[in-house]
Amino acid sequence: MPIFCEPIPQPTASTEDLMLGIGGAVSTAGTLQAAAEMLDSEPAETLVVIGPEVATSDALEFASALRLARPAVGVILVREWVDVRMLTDALRAGVREVVPAGDRAGLIVACERSHEVSLRQLAASAATDAVPAPEGRIVTVFAAKGGCGKTTFAVNLGLALATGTGQRVCVVDLDLAFGDVAISLQLDPARTIIDALPMAGHLDTTGAASLLTSYRPGLEMLLAPVVPGDAEKISPALVGELLAVLRGIFDYVVVDTPAQLSDHVLTAMDASAHIVLLTTPEVPALKNLRVTLDLLDMLSYPAGLRSVVLNRSDSKVGLGAEDVERVVRGLIAAQIPSSRDVPVSINKGLPIMLASPRHPVSQAITRFARQRLLEVPAAKSRSQRRSARRQRKAA
Ligand SMILES: Nc1ncnc2c1ncn2[C@@H]1O[C@H](COP(=O)(O)OP(=O)(O)O)[C@@H](O)[C@H]1O
Ligand SMILES: [Mg+2]
Repeated sequence: MPIFCEPIPQPTASTEDLMLGIGGAVSTAGTLQAAAEMLDSEPAETLVVIGPEVATSDALEFASALRLARPAVGVILVREWVDVRMLTDALRAGVREVVPAGDRAGLIVACERSHEVSLRQLAASAATDAVPAPEGRIVTVFAAKGGCGKTTFAVNLGLALATGTGQRVCVVDLDLAFGDVAISLQLDPARTIIDALPMAGHLDTTGAASLLTSYRPGLEMLLAPVVPGDAEKISPALVGELLAVLRGIFDYVVVDTPAQLSDHVLTAMDASAHIVLLTTPEVPALKNLRVTLDLLDMLSYPAGLRSVVLNRSDSKVGLGAEDVERVVRGLIAAQIPSSRDVPVSINKGLPIMLASPRHPVSQAITRFARQRLLEVPAAKSRSQRRSARRQRKAA
């Protein structure tokens, strides 16, 4: 209810007229102090009309204080005499309009205009104040060569991120044609990515949640299609849509990938806060890693958002960590030892992280998760990266 400030104990015909101009239902305040107290108790109030009996200097002081404290509250001044000097001072003080006493129609219009301005100001400040819900971080695990340990790493990384951290994690099997997350965890692929097809273009949280297979508390899986040929039905756009919805549900979304830098994989990388590039200490794997790094550089993916992880680092094949770092032209983020316990755990359907959390392989993955993902603030440069890519493509 608008506040009408006028130091008159009983309403006169002219104050009644003013109140009608303001809009009928009005709270009256005998002093500016009383008006200020009313505003304090009415945080949603947006209009104060100051009547002709209040001294102009007091009214302007009140208006300029209010402009800072409650910018969405409009002040309208009603004056017996309006001259240019007074008008200028009033507008400078933050008064929205000065209306001559007796101009009821003018007052009605001024009140309506002020109301509109207040609504716009409130909407604008609500938009800036609104804190978006924190979005989960997407981590894509990639190697351009098959058999480097992507699936092993992605699944165990999912476990490392979800175990004892209170984080909600989803592992997405984006190896659409030959995905083996389900088989390596002995999960029944009753629901897979293919079930997202009818929801394409309007996927929501409930729809995405219906596609998931629970593995452990806090760890869900989005499994790859099982029927040969289904992979082609999944478009990169649907992958982008899925990841966008999943990141709203989970703290971390770990994406396992095929060995090709397909459009689907690039879509996942576009959405990723971090990219893990796996390699083994063998010449073909290193050659493919170098090609991948060059390609990602060309597409403007920032080097700071990716980690090179050397899997089977202690294999006695002649290439050491220094050789890998020379090829990478940077440091290796983690070295995962080779152990026959890894294939044994996969054959049992029990990831090494669960079968043996203190195993050197489990510890190396846990350390990576902590140092590179759990302890760093979320990266914010996704859109910057996308626009950089667009610029490169256009050039
Ligand atoms: N650190 C390791 N030590 C021993 N074997 C490993 C290790 N990492 C992966 N493997 C084995 O390598 C094979 C390929 O791993 P996988 O995760 O399926 O690779 P990708 O998904 O990249 O094709 C599997 O048999 C797996 O058990
Ligand atoms: Mg795999």
